[in-house]
Amino acid sequence: ETRHARLEAILDAHAGREGPLLPILHDVQAAFGCVPAETIPRIADRLNLTRAEVHGVVSFYHDFRDEPAGRVVVKICRAEACKAVGSDALAAAAEARCGVAMGGTAPGGAVTLEPVYCLGLCACGPAAMVDGEILGRMDAARLDAALTERGA
Ligand code: FES
Repeated sequence: ETRHARLEAILDAHAGREGPLLPILHDVQAAFGCVPAETIPRIADRLNLTRAEVHGVVSFYHDFRDEPAGRVVVKICRAEACKAVGSDALAAAAEARCGVAMGGTAPGGAVTLEPVYCLGLCACGPAAMVDGEILGRMDAARLDAALTERGA
């Protein structure tokens, strides 16, 4: 099944529904691991939106990516309570450990680093999420251990 056919099937499945853009983008990301730039014109066309409108929604929601994520996804809380207890240092350590800036995927695809704004663990900051697991009181050593454990 080609990428084009998969995209058309997703668009057909949502045809005629109300407010289909977000569900379509979620399905596209589930199918392709990201919302590839080349799908945006076709999505816009089918929904009578401009490319800029679709692109705006993709970039507004942190959950959508324009390239597939790395094998391990690390989200570091950058909201206020965590910042007050050292999330800047944690973010810098994560960037150094992974060899990529926040928001990017390390060369080779081992790790994607992403900012997140509150994980609900404010009392135990700095908080991070490693492959869906929420971890409190993170520091460079604990992050390193969590990554090593996952082969990253
Ligand atoms: Fe970081 Fe809430 S501010 S978990």
